[in-house]
Amino acid sequence: MQPSISARELLTTTRAVRKRLDLTRPVEREVIEECIAIAQQAPTSANTENQHFVVVTDPIKKNALAELFRRGWQTYVNLPRPASNKSEDSRRDATQSRVGSSAEYLRDHLQEVPVHVIPCIASRTEGMPTVMQSEVWSSIAPAVWSFMLAAHSFGLGTSWTILHLFYEKEAASILNIPYKEVMQAALIPVGYTKGIHFKSVPREPVSKVVHWNSW
Ligand SMILES: Cc1cc2nc3c(=O)[nH]c(=O)nc-3n(C[C@H](O)[C@H](O)[C@H](O)COP(=O)(O)O)c2cc1C
Repeated sequence: MQPSISARELLTTTRAVRKRLDLTRPVEREVIEECIAIAQQAPTSANTENQHFVVVTDPIKKNALAELFRRGWQTYVNLPRPASNKSEDSRRDATQSRVGSSAEYLRDHLQEVPVHVIPCIASRTEGMPTVMQSEVWSSIAPAVWSFMLAAHSFGLGTSWTILHLFYEKEAASILNIPYKEVMQAALIPVGYTKGIHFKSVPREPVSKVVHWNSW
């Protein structure tokens, strides 16, 4: 467990942890379940009965999920997108290259991460109007972030990943998730961190993103 830290520090230092995950140290079942119990306190549109968390420690299943993740990565990379203007912001370029190298590390080592947590919601959003899609996603996303914050408070590192969802149906069949009724929201790799000190990172100035009374 981390020495007690303030809410502000927890909220500003819960980073995407990839290269600093300890791949050799197991994570106790009770700690994962405590993080999930904390996550269940997050807001939902109705109640928490629709939320489920599939916790994967089986090496064969983690391997299979990592394979799907890598396929998803390739699919994502090959998506057509508009030609990007060469950025003039060198700080942003440096950040992108740091995040890219970190994400590649996770892609290559995902199967070795001690625990994969797959948060799910018992609904499917395909074809729903935006308001109903928002209701579903907003009933799981805050819980996932709470899980990540709680994990950080216990000395664990996490990151939010989604690329296996290109092949969600295959992941559902690996994990016996009833695909027609239950949607996977993410795949959160979880492990103890090497060292416990994490820093906040530069973001856009608040003045650039806040719109008081009008955009
Ligand atoms: C919707 C979403 C999808 C993401 N997908 C991935 C992913 O597939 N792989 C990955 O390594 N990180 C993924 N991330 C993590 C972001 O890349 C991470 O938040 C970003 O690197 C910022 O890192 P920081 O916490 O160090 O500021 C995702 C985050 C979000 C919110």
